[in-house]
Amino acid sequence: MFKRVSGTKDILSKEEITAWLKIEAEARRVFSLYNYQEIRTPILEELALFNRSLGVSTEIVQKQMFVIKTKEDEYVLRPEGTASVVRAYLENNLDKTSGFSKFYYTGAMFRFERPQKGRLRQFHHLGCEVIGSLDPAVDVEVISLADYLLKSLPAKEEGYKIKLNSLGCQKDKDGLAKELRKILKGHLSKVCADCKKRFKTNVFRILDCKNDACKEVVSSLGVSDSHLCPECREHFDKVRAGLKLLNIEYEFSPTLVRGLDYYTRTVFEITHPVLGAQDALCAGGRYDNLVKELGGPDLGAIGFAFGMERLVLVREQRTEDRGQNLAYLITLGEEAKNQGLKLLDNLRKSGIQADTDYENKSLKAALRRANGLGALKVLILGEDELKNNVVTLKDMASGDQREVKQEDLIRGLRDNELKL
Ligand code: HAM
Repeated sequence: MFKRVSGTKDILSKEEITAWLKIEAEARRVFSLYNYQEIRTPILEELALFNRSLGVSTEIVQKQMFVIKTKEDEYVLRPEGTASVVRAYLENNLDKTSGFSKFYYTGAMFRFERPQKGRLRQFHHLGCEVIGSLDPAVDVEVISLADYLLKSLPAKEEGYKIKLNSLGCQKDKDGLAKELRKILKGHLSKVCADCKKRFKTNVFRILDCKNDACKEVVSSLGVSDSHLCPECREHFDKVRAGLKLLNIEYEFSPTLVRGLDYYTRTVFEITHPVLGAQDALCAGGRYDNLVKELGGPDLGAIGFAFGMERLVLVREQRTEDRGQNLAYLITLGEEAKNQGLKLLDNLRKSGIQADTDYENKSLKAALRRANGLGALKVLILGEDELKNNVVTLKDMASGDQREVKQEDLIRGLRDNELKL
């Protein structure tokens, strides 16, 4: 028998697929409230787009890309959405026509990772990108949107945490990297093998290494935001003031650096304790140099992406996720089956979610099936019911049942009037 590829997932239980649909619907509602427009970019992109955008020394570019080589070209299954959105923005001349633009997207992303709980090779992003402004008010909008989305789902009670930092402009980042190398030099014997390499290739990543020994070294460094130039300091202060104004709780986290090279100034991450070791639910930040880096004008930009699989885990489950609006029809006998076909058609076309048994189950087995599907009401149509022009209506929660006239059934179900 064939098996799914390691690190991929089938999403098929009623609860799970309902959760996906509800999250997507809620996200569309929230993005529309904030006036973001959906964008759908291809899954296949040129390899060079990500080499250029994410940075050649990043983990994704170094070892996580699914590369497809043809005779002439090198493509990649996109590992993230930001570079694709900027590419589409520029390729379609939106910098010249629309200018300032706000997009959101959902879709599959691919990273060749060691599969583990919460880490997949095919996963899905729910993200947004705002291109064309350096205004700190946009940072506030983007973070408050992510916060509002989590409150609307809602996310489970245990609570999520927004961690915030500013990396500063490229000059500030270069200064910080130099400073870090200087102070870390004396501690290199204590950090893990990966961090020894990171010291040369991507020194920032040492700051968010999960290894206990590295964490200890980092906490002794006393990293703060003192590397920020006056403009970046003012920008960050305005972001913080805006969040305070909107009563959005966050934690200033000076060691938050993110794993992609394109970030400048504001970076943030949202974590949730139910996710365990892989607790990053959402991540984002500014990438003010990327539009220029990809051949466009000098435009500020910011965005974020939630991991959809992780959102599903933190969303509070609802009883309706089990499909309790379903009316399940059980027919007994050939004539009832024919009449039932018509009744089922009427129910559905009257806006009532309805289903029936197509496996000729016994009454008992069909009731079990209805229960398994989470149906709230069962309609039984047998010889007696046909004779009297009624349907037996059974409430699955209480087990009570009574006869209802066929002509009253649809209106009663639709208006939820048929109490037992
Ligand atoms: P990222 O941190 O690489 O950022 O991914 C964002 C989120 O995707 C993570 O916080 C996590 O929830 C989820 N995620 C990442 N990798 C996996 C995986 N292997 N399995 C399951 N979930 C995963 C970005 O990709 C940026 N493009 C975000 C952004 C948008 N920054 C600005 N705009």
